[in-house]
Amino acid sequence: MRVVILKNADAVAKSAAEESIRRIGLADLVGTADLVGTAGLVGTAGLDSVKTPLEKPVVVGLATGGTPLGLYREWIHAYQAGQISFANTMSFNLDEYVGIPPRDPRSYHAYMHENLFRHIDIPPGRSFIPKTDVSNLDESAADYEWKIEQAGGIDYQILGIGSDGHIGFNEMGSSLASRTRVKTLTKKTRMDNARYFDSFDAVPKMAITMGIGTIMNARSILLLATGAGKAKAIRDTAEGPVTAMVPASVLQFHDDVTLMIDEEAAKDLSHREYYLESEANRRRIELAESTGLQIE
Ligand code: PGA
Repeated sequence: MRVVILKNADAVAKSAAEESIRRIGLADLVGTADLVGTAGLVGTAGLDSVKTPLEKPVVVGLATGGTPLGLYREWIHAYQAGQISFANTMSFNLDEYVGIPPRDPRSYHAYMHENLFRHIDIPPGRSFIPKTDVSNLDESAADYEWKIEQAGGIDYQILGIGSDGHIGFNEMGSSLASRTRVKTLTKKTRMDNARYFDSFDAVPKMAITMGIGTIMNARSILLLATGAGKAKAIRDTAEGPVTAMVPASVLQFHDDVTLMIDEEAAKDLSHREYYLESEANRRRIELAESTGLQIE
């Protein structure tokens, strides 16, 4: 597990944007928007001389909550500056509340529209969020899982983390192999999220969430955490035993996970110096690769 410790939330947002833009290839997609139809990609034959979209959209997993807002702001700025494009991406959000209709400003549908989608060029119909305004929630969850599969799985997953170590709304005790389904939210999670509602009682009690198995299938994962409130969850995730009591700890089994955190969220880590040294070495390796010089 790669642990990147940065000065503050702003530095996390900037580095997360830089890292994700590089990993998703968002800068390569500038100029492809006019080649992408809402129904899918146009053929690329004969277009070799201009920028052409990739054969298959890049599938990005997205998170809500306070933490990814800085990253989304950075993406929006880069898009508005003409540096990146989402024309060849497709997105799947982690979760949605049960009992909050999509048009309600407190829904994650509304959050995504307001904080990202309405500002960028992701094609209409290419962004998915679990549907909870239905009578059959189990069927809706299974359908969401199927849609992810049909899209070829998630290439790059953005994650936040709950103060109790949840990822998505996979609360403690979630099966580490779980798929998209309905989960009951813990009191702690509902208290953490009460700031977005008029009262604690108004916070929904359930959500549809991608499962831990669904998240683990993502090819690459970027988990962001800022603030002292996340310090214990981060320590348990990176340095604790793997346990369903801390769902994020299962990420230790994934071969491409980066925890990008600020100093406050890093404050309880026992091996802080080692993580900083590893990052410094990573930069030396990259420098050697770009200059062709061997590391002494
Ligand atoms: P937050 O939520 O970003 O608002 O802290 C994270 C989460 O609960 O996963």
